[in-house]
Amino acid sequence: MPDTTPRGLTGLAFGGDYNPEQWPESVWQEDVRLMREAGVTMVSVGIFSWALLEPAPGAYDFGWLDRVLALLHDNGIRVDLGTPTAAPPAWFYRAHPEALPVTAEGVRYEFGSRAAICHSNADYRAAAANITTRLAERYGDHPALAMWHVHNEYGVPVSACYCDSCAAHFRRWLATTYGTVDAVNEAWGTAFWGQRYADLEQINPPRLTPTAGNPAQALDYKRFADATMRENFVTERDILHRLSPGVPVTTNFMTALSQCDSVDYWAWGREVDIVTNDHYLITDGRRTHVNLAMAADLTRSVAGGAPWLLLEHSTSGVNWQPRNPAKAPGQMARNSLGHVARGSEGALFFQWRQSRRGAEKFHSAMVPHGGTDTRVWREVVELGASLESLAEIRGTRTCADAAVLWDWHSWWAQNLDWRPSEDHDARERADAYYEALYDHHLTVDFAHPEADLSGYPLVVAPALYLMTEAAGNNLKTYVENGGTLVVSYFSGIVDEHDAVHEGAHPGPLRDVLGLTVEEFSPLLRGERVRLTGPDGSGLDADVWTEFVVPRGAETVWTYADGLTAGRPAVTRHRLGAGTAWYVSTRLGAAGLDDVLGRAGEDARIAPRADLPRDVEVVRRTGESGTCLFVINHTATDTKVPLETSGTELLSGERAAGRLAVPAGAVRVVRLDG
Ligand code: GAL
Repeated sequence: MPDTTPRGLTGLAFGGDYNPEQWPESVWQEDVRLMREAGVTMVSVGIFSWALLEPAPGAYDFGWLDRVLALLHDNGIRVDLGTPTAAPPAWFYRAHPEALPVTAEGVRYEFGSRAAICHSNADYRAAAANITTRLAERYGDHPALAMWHVHNEYGVPVSACYCDSCAAHFRRWLATTYGTVDAVNEAWGTAFWGQRYADLEQINPPRLTPTAGNPAQALDYKRFADATMRENFVTERDILHRLSPGVPVTTNFMTALSQCDSVDYWAWGREVDIVTNDHYLITDGRRTHVNLAMAADLTRSVAGGAPWLLLEHSTSGVNWQPRNPAKAPGQMARNSLGHVARGSEGALFFQWRQSRRGAEKFHSAMVPHGGTDTRVWREVVELGASLESLAEIRGTRTCADAAVLWDWHSWWAQNLDWRPSEDHDARERADAYYEALYDHHLTVDFAHPEADLSGYPLVVAPALYLMTEAAGNNLKTYVENGGTLVVSYFSGIVDEHDAVHEGAHPGPLRDVLGLTVEEFSPLLRGERVRLTGPDGSGLDADVWTEFVVPRGAETVWTYADGLTAGRPAVTRHRLGAGTAWYVSTRLGAAGLDDVLGRAGEDARIAPRADLPRDVEVVRRTGESGTCLFVINHTATDTKVPLETSGTELLSGERAAGRLAVPAGAVRVVRLDG
């Protein structure tokens, strides 16, 4: 069995992507000296180095990488070694131009960037397997090797290819998945608009069509494209397992929903030995630390709750958004330790030394253009020391208070053409419910709708348009056994083939929610409705309303105006030993706060009124005890009550009573006992 932690690391991982090939060898000596100064423990090497390692077909140059690995090893720095298969060389594309991916519109991409790959292409597959084999044979038992890093961020920036080899591969996938063309016709509902196929050979990828294409075909194509990338990962992983036994294999995920929408990470989480993630702050005006917490919680969840590793984030600004602000003083440490609080076994960056050339020269790095006499470098050195003092948290697990249901397939289906409203956005609802739970100071696990939920007092389903009967039964059992469930509108509508469940909406949720939905009535842009609450209080909502018919559920909020005036807007249903809430409209932050507060009472979750907004408190627990992470994202000093005394690990000082956490600071307390 391969290890599930980086080999040879005794503390947390700290470092970044190291691209020494961009620099003369004289710089390498300074690199390792500075790495030691900063306390770097691991670097990722060779991720985009194929053209250097195999400068011509079958001609290899490993000398430079031999020297890099030896230098790192001599300096006690562990290596996360990349397979460079996200960056095939120019000679490869000259020989195999059809390995370049094609868009749904029929445009073939060119060489000159990276990740321009048709994952069905047989020549690509053979060449990727070959370079992976060569690397594994050469470095499989290298003393510096901590883990293998396959490819780079599958699914980004090309999520699917629509070329002819993909068409053939898709047909094979359909044959395996469905058996016969009749089964495909049935699943896709091809009786509609005369789309019936007489033979699997007649089926193509969902290329550009004059108007809306078949939604079930488009959904299956997303599944196929994801599965195809996973096949290629598994091929490389198995080569590495065979030639480098015991060494863990990963590929860097991008779980943030705003950064990758084409990969079903529930499935990928089962294939890697260590879940690793890349995370970048999206500076679109939202609260970046909340988005970060969400991505970290989702990453831990796809790792099944096990520790994972933050393989990339940025020391300061990135360079690929419209506007790329620098991080504020202290923000990098808050970001890094925020990931660690939520299960990461360290913090690594893109990249070690800021490039002088190429597309990413304005992206921040651990060693900035300005060198070591810079704020970024000083904060990097400080962070290295902080992580060193947290070594004992390795292997401990983050404790969650509630679960949010998430399913990539449902998200994909939700985003297909011709839905009742383009303003309804499943991701936006996931973000909004997550943010409301965050503001209640609850730590959240994400869960697949068919997962065992019995450990959670509260489960929230922000937008589960696609839901299987099995998931519906799972939620019903969960509530009957005492759980509290909150479901947002337009959930439980279709099955796994995007076919509407039989009978009234919401098919598999009717019983658990104690209601039916007769009709959806999305609102026009800018239109709002008022809701009246139990005590006469009012709430505002927008985007969506529904004609809800209670069938056992009680009405808690009622629509006060609009087409649905006088009808239930938010309901509550007692079932067995538990309670199920339904929210049939898009509530803003105040409404979600109110509903989740009441659901929290049903779930007997004690409110944390003693904690200020944006002061994050998360615990990791394990054999070494319990550590409380307190991250003050505000500009105000604060104090947080401790349940027992303890030791603050970053300073080594004793802590008791009320823990002082200055503005912008992080404290980590190992609780006594
Ligand atoms: C990541 C990628 C890195 C680098 C980084 C910049 O998505 O894996 O190679 O490009 O973005 O933010």
